[in-house]
Amino acid sequence: MTNAELLQLAVKAKENSYSPYSKFRVGAALLCENGKVYSGSNVENASIGATVCAERVAILKAISSGERNFKKIAISVDSKNWGYPCGICLQVMTEFCGDDFKIVVANRQNEHKELKLKDVLPNAFRKKELDGFIGGL
Ligand code: THU
Repeated sequence: MTNAELLQLAVKAKENSYSPYSKFRVGAALLCENGKVYSGSNVENASIGATVCAERVAILKAISSGERNFKKIAISVDSKNWGYPCGICLQVMTEFCGDDFKIVVANRQNEHKELKLKDVLPNAFRKKELDGFIGGL
């Protein structure tokens, strides 16, 4: 699947955004190694901290459906600026996605570019940091 095709699925997912507070709609489409796609939209809450980003909705749908191997994620926003993922979403991607995982960011014109997760969040905190902590030695 091309990046443009995956982005179209993210654009479609954005239609289901529940964002009455920020009005900032986000859609995401996650491509698994097996070719399946899981999509998500942001889901906000009156208790603002309970909001979940579109990327995490897509990733958690996939994980809870038994998927474990992922290729790339496309993100659609209505902004003139690139819709980069937030830090929490990057951390969740780091947990489940390998070094070759790609992030396709776009703007409201559907111009898009591909980034590598490892370039966007270098030196990420991972399981190995927990394995190496002093109390665990
Ligand atoms: N949002 C996402 O869905 N993904 C991101 O990576 C950044 C932010 C959502 C959360 C909230 O509903 C709205 O965008 C404004 O922050």
